[in-house]
Amino acid sequence: MSKKLDTAPYKGVRDFYPEDMWVEKYLFNTMRSVVEKYGYTEYSASPLEPSELYKEKSGEEIVNEQTYSFIDRGGREVTLRPEMTPTVARMVAGRKRELPFPLRWYSIPNLFRYESPQRGRLREHYQLNVDLFGVEGIEGEIEMISIANDIMKTFGAKDGEFSILVNSRKLMQALFESFGLSEENSHIISKLLDKKDKVDEKIFTESVEKILGENTTEFIALLNNHEKLLEKVGPEHPATISFVSFIESMDKLGIKNLNFTPTLMRGFDYYTDIVFEIFDTHPDNRRSLFGGGRYDDLLSLFSNDSLPAIGFGMGDVTVRDFLESHGLLPEYKTETQAMLVTIGSVDKIEVLNITKRIRESGIAVCLNTGAKKPADAIKGALKLHIPYIIFIGEDEVSTKTYTVKDLRTENTQSLSEEELISLIKT
Ligand code: HAM
Repeated sequence: MSKKLDTAPYKGVRDFYPEDMWVEKYLFNTMRSVVEKYGYTEYSASPLEPSELYKEKSGEEIVNEQTYSFIDRGGREVTLRPEMTPTVARMVAGRKRELPFPLRWYSIPNLFRYESPQRGRLREHYQLNVDLFGVEGIEGEIEMISIANDIMKTFGAKDGEFSILVNSRKLMQALFESFGLSEENSHIISKLLDKKDKVDEKIFTESVEKILGENTTEFIALLNNHEKLLEKVGPEHPATISFVSFIESMDKLGIKNLNFTPTLMRGFDYYTDIVFEIFDTHPDNRRSLFGGGRYDDLLSLFSNDSLPAIGFGMGDVTVRDFLESHGLLPEYKTETQAMLVTIGSVDKIEVLNITKRIRESGIAVCLNTGAKKPADAIKGALKLHIPYIIFIGEDEVSTKTYTVKDLRTENTQSLSEEELISLIKT
């Protein structure tokens, strides 16, 4: 006999059994309800993209180490999308003349990244993408952070349970310039900052020293002293003015858990100014739930005109971990409200007609004509979390009175069709 196949899914991806799919639906419905309140409309696209879409602006780590790429039968280089931003930029650029701006779009695509699977990091995840095109001023940033915050609140999160880290690449660029750094060295320093929390402090300091020499101590001190950092860049510098006004607006809007984090640079090369991440404060999940920022130049990949854009991505894996760790995940509930079970030999057409009428009344009911004993049917209904079970045998058909059991309270009643419908519906 040949070797049997493994039932486990491919490494780092998930199967969604109904209980898991229920959670996914809950996550997606909550995300949808919030973003639609802000006027965002849904779009979608294929997960297959030409590889060149990612080469220029997505960043080396993603392109060289994390993509699933292959050559198709026609010799084209294809990539399974590792993120949605290049796709949405491509779509918006493709219809730029017709689309109404400001444009508010969202999508919940599955994304593929060849990562080492671990808690909060998989090889396929779903990610809510919310993007706003055509808004240049800080209203864009304010809207994004407000949506992100609103999603967290709608999931039931409290302020202390998550933290919103923000930074401005323009501000950091101005800081690097104040230290006289070239464009190349600024790029190296920004990559070092991005990795700071993942490397040993000594190694970080030594790497910074190679670029900043005797200014290293001053530079590192500024990362922890925000007022001094802003002073060094200069209070009149446009990057300082715009960043400070953004922070002040967020405060006035009652969003208090915002943290200026100069080390937050984000890996993608396309970000041009404000970048942000939402972090879980629970010690088990030191991972970002959201990540995003402003990317005013990405559409220039497709034509000579540019378009201001800002957006974020929120992953389903990390948000699920968050909700589980904070006890916020609701209990599984099936959509099926009742199971109708036949006992002995009953007129099939009669049973099908009763089931049809129950469905027409708006109740979701499944039919079980194969149970050997009522106890077996009850066991099955309990496993499926179905709240009501209705038994129909010959007697029930002739008297038109049915045995209905509420499996949560174990209460059993004999009811007419009308009565059982009104019981299940309430
Ligand atoms: P990102 O920071 O790479 O941003 O991903 C956003 C979020 O997706 C992360 O905070 C995390 O929750 C989740 N995520 C990312 N990779 C994985 C993974 N391997 N497994 C599980 N979850 C993951 C972007 O992708 C940007 N394109 C977002 C964006 C939209 N920027 C502007 N618009």
